[in-house]
Amino acid sequence: MMKTNLKTLMSAVLVGGLLTACSNAATPTAAPPTLPPVIAPATLAPSAVPPTATRPAPTSAPTAVPPTATSPAPTSAPTAPAATPTTVATTASATTQMLNGKPCVAPAALTPAQTEGPLYVANPPQRRNFQADVANRGGKPLILLGQVFGQDCKPIANARVDLWHTDAKGEYDLSKTYTSRGYFNTDANGSYRFETIFPEIYPGRTAHFHLKVTPPNGTTLTTQVYFPDVTANNRDGIFDAKLLARMSKSGGTDVANFDFVVVRR
Ligand SMILES: [Fe+2]
Repeated sequence: MMKTNLKTLMSAVLVGGLLTACSNAATPTAAPPTLPPVIAPATLAPSAVPPTATRPAPTSAPTAVPPTATSPAPTSAPTAPAATPTTVATTASATTQMLNGKPCVAPAALTPAQTEGPLYVANPPQRRNFQADVANRGGKPLILLGQVFGQDCKPIANARVDLWHTDAKGEYDLSKTYTSRGYFNTDANGSYRFETIFPEIYPGRTAHFHLKVTPPNGTTLTTQVYFPDVTANNRDGIFDAKLLARMSKSGGTDVANFDFVVVRR
């Protein structure tokens, strides 16, 4: 009897142990599969989103595009300043009056007066082309031109410009034929112009023109005009470098340019 019970008890214990072992084994097996899927994906997903949300920020970087839009602005900036100097230059050139190749600054210095000499003939004809004069044939053609100004640097219209000089032989005409003699009035711009010949040199003097400039109802300026690069200038006691003409060419013809400043009345 005791043996039977003992066997029964042992069997029960053995079965129970097995059952417990089986149930314990099943429990831990079920738990693991549940943890991985829940924790892992849930944690990763949300953390991955932020980075995505962070990108939009850099996307706002394109907001930096404005800088690109700003760059064109500077381009237009340099363009504007360029227009400004152009306007200034135009204004300056429009208001600057040139006197013998330099800007005239009022009050301008009067043109130096010089001796009339003994060979002036009064009441010359009104004309400004001496090239056809018989005694001037063979002479070297020369154009004398310029303007007459007051000391205020403004041109003087209708000023009388009287010119006389030697002929192609270096002589003055005293026969009343008025070779190389005549006068003409300045135009509205104070300009004058004579077509004549290069005055030949005579003993004791260098090459020169004699002139009288008289503003309307004003005082007459008597003076002379000289030419650069003439050797005789250095041994002429009357020569004045302030009275040198500026030389150029026009269609192959020599041009002597000289502007006068006289007392306006
Ligand atoms: Fe003379």
